[in-house]
Amino acid sequence: MNTKIFIPRELQIEGVNEHVEKWRSPSNIALVKYWGKVGHQIPANPSISFTLKNSYTETEIKFIKKEEASSDIEFELLFEGEKNESFTTKVASYFDNIKVYTPYLKYYRLEISTSNSFPHSSGIASSASGFSALSVCLVAFEEKINPELNSRVAGQKASFLARLGSGSACRSIEGPVMIWGEHDKYRLSANEVAVVPDLKLNPIFEDYQDTILLIDKGVKSVSSTIGHGLMQDHPFAKQRFIQANNHIAEMREILQNGDLKRFGEILESEALTLHSMMMTSMPYYILMKPNTLLAIQAVKEYREKSGSNLYFTLDAGANVHLLYPKSEVKEIMNFIEKELVVYCENQHYICDELGSGAFKLKV
Ligand code: PMV
Repeated sequence: MNTKIFIPRELQIEGVNEHVEKWRSPSNIALVKYWGKVGHQIPANPSISFTLKNSYTETEIKFIKKEEASSDIEFELLFEGEKNESFTTKVASYFDNIKVYTPYLKYYRLEISTSNSFPHSSGIASSASGFSALSVCLVAFEEKINPELNSRVAGQKASFLARLGSGSACRSIEGPVMIWGEHDKYRLSANEVAVVPDLKLNPIFEDYQDTILLIDKGVKSVSSTIGHGLMQDHPFAKQRFIQANNHIAEMREILQNGDLKRFGEILESEALTLHSMMMTSMPYYILMKPNTLLAIQAVKEYREKSGSNLYFTLDAGANVHLLYPKSEVKEIMNFIEKELVVYCENQHYICDELGSGAFKLKV
């Protein structure tokens, strides 16, 4: 992909003294996982995800024209109404990363306020929803001042910028399914941006459910940046990347034919492979907790007893995502309430489902 299309050639900021953008962007859950990168946020293997709906970040940015342009991007950030040093540092480094693509930001001072629908300490990573919400706000502003930016390129650019904040964030811009990373079975798939795959999604998936068991609300013991880095000299990396590519190819068929058994087999294999990669890294990390394993075991037993289509996946943490068709919601919620909430911290879990990506909010 020629990323020069994301560098604005002409800016019309004359008269644009103040402007506000407010967007909501959701989190996403990978079916086939991204774990390992090359170069600047280029994935070592393609990944495919479901975009979520109820776990989201809302971000508002006020762009205020300055008397004079500055080399650094000047901003103030409030997270849930308060200053937050760690987010401010992350956003400052993100702005530094993207400045070639957002030269207009040096003319403005940014007042950013952001909040999540899920509790901050829930063990749910906010980087996907956070960086995607931030990126769509920037691109929506750019659409006002860059006459060459059409809506198709604007969508790609939002994904492109989000990726530079956090890889998986590029998959949150649209939905309900996104692929990120080149794969010869997916037309238009690219390493630099995530796209909606060219397939006809089986209706069984359209309102698919994701109930997230909050097993451990603590902060992860390893950042994903370090985790991705450990794939570089990983003894099983080559085989893992081959496996991910094969799973992506098979997922293309499954998402169309609705084979839920094979869907679940790949889903769970991907989750356990991701964690196996971490456990066989040097140094190793064990991010599952005893209750993660107990919940997984209970899900397996329930499935064997009931013939249900309930399968799990995991992120780089202890929480368990339970994926299942909406038609089974009653029985499965019953099972969760009776047998799984005991494994959740304070019995907390989040009910989510497939969504369609970021959208603009009224200010
Ligand atoms: O976006 P990052 O760099 O935080 O990596 C996320 C990686 C996983 O969540 C573990 C898998 C994925 O594909 O989302």
